[in-house]
Amino acid sequence: MEQDKRMWGGRFEETTDEAVAAFTASVDVDQALALVDIQGSIAHAKMLGAQKILTAEEARRIVEGLEALAVDIQEGRFEWRTALEDVHMNIEQALTDRIGALGGKLHTARSRNDQVATALRLWLGQAVRSTVSALKDLCAALVDAAESHLDVVMPGYTHLQVAQPVLLAHHLLAYYEMLRRDARRFSGSLERISVSPLGAGALAGTSFPIDRHQTASMLGFADVARNSIDAVASRDHVLEHLSYCAITMVHLSRLSEELILWSSQEFGFVTLPDSHTTGSSIMPQKKNPDVCELVRGKTGSVCGHLMAQLMMMKGLPLAYNRDMQEDKAGLFAAHQTLLRSLRLYATMLPKVQIHAHRMREAAGRAYSNATDLADYLARKGMPFREAHEVTGKLVALCLKEGVPLESLPITRMKALCPTIGADVYDHLAVDKVVDARQSFGGTARSQVALQIRHACADLKDRWCR
Ligand code: ARG
Repeated sequence: MEQDKRMWGGRFEETTDEAVAAFTASVDVDQALALVDIQGSIAHAKMLGAQKILTAEEARRIVEGLEALAVDIQEGRFEWRTALEDVHMNIEQALTDRIGALGGKLHTARSRNDQVATALRLWLGQAVRSTVSALKDLCAALVDAAESHLDVVMPGYTHLQVAQPVLLAHHLLAYYEMLRRDARRFSGSLERISVSPLGAGALAGTSFPIDRHQTASMLGFADVARNSIDAVASRDHVLEHLSYCAITMVHLSRLSEELILWSSQEFGFVTLPDSHTTGSSIMPQKKNPDVCELVRGKTGSVCGHLMAQLMMMKGLPLAYNRDMQEDKAGLFAAHQTLLRSLRLYATMLPKVQIHAHRMREAAGRAYSNATDLADYLARKGMPFREAHEVTGKLVALCLKEGVPLESLPITRMKALCPTIGADVYDHLAVDKVVDARQSFGGTARSQVALQIRHACADLKDRWCR
């Protein structure tokens, strides 16, 4: 590796071991911070000018140099050098190359510790906004699907055993609720992210007459970190973000698992679109749910990134430690994975074909109306426990004879329980079973329609707090 003059090299006699330079460098990863780093530097330089720490002319030339570098970076003309360690020193060196020794004045009253903390918070704010917006798109797709399949009945499961019939729309809206909470969690974190560490220096503040409120407001931060040690030593905003990424991925992973099951030949509830599935290199007939499987699989690495960072932070004395450089790779990867997953699901969902007849058929099987028979008896005054027992006996009888409850003649029902009248059959049809559940949040069509209306209003008027 080339041996550049190191920015911190004054007190060193020996050059850095090459393997050490490679091991400690982070520019491959943290160059993703380039534009927010420049944004932070520009605010810092303007403040230095306003506070007369630099002359107005010096500040202007530094800002111009930084703006030109931002263009180079955006246009892919910037040459990143591992020997310069990280994104911050690469940009500072390029600035000096461009405007001369004046570039070295940018770092007045600043440390890489508050610099990196600032860049990371700016990056995180953007990451949160794009995540919240991708969540909104997926939520809108879920609500659309719910609205357009409001008549589809499917089996609801517990323990993956058929439990009670529900509307598909109801099931889809359960995911809407989860992802809606995820979006709120992410947007709620913005107030903790939007706090400026700039001006904290290495850890103790600075002897220059800086104005931290000025840089904070130039950068759009809502607040200024109150304690310079905390400002450079803390990464709980990263941990918080990763935990929200992990939770959201877990939600997507459960949806993935269901789509994988539902698209299997055994279920046959849905057909996934060709555009979001892949084939087999040997079995010509195959169409595999790879997007769903990979979302489920990548959930493991996102949860792993959260765990890695919790472990990375747990033993660190205050304030900054180099360990913390490791905060970025996992954060960036988790964010990318979540964003890509959300976007893929938002485009896939509208193209999923629903096989309503298969779902309805399955919904009516496996005595999914047994609770309704027990409820019928309870409404006639029988204690529910007794009604449960009687219904269980009827189910056992039907199981032996291989017939559904609603096919058992009234005489046979009455033989076991005289309370049962001929009107019982009115309560056992799948649609009746669904529509009987009128309790708030229940699966009756009117309740699900209410949930849809509420979701539409969320999406329209109150998505972000
Ligand atoms: N690349 C470093 C990081 O990401 C920047 C801060 C370095 N500070 C230091 N004192 N070595 O954490």
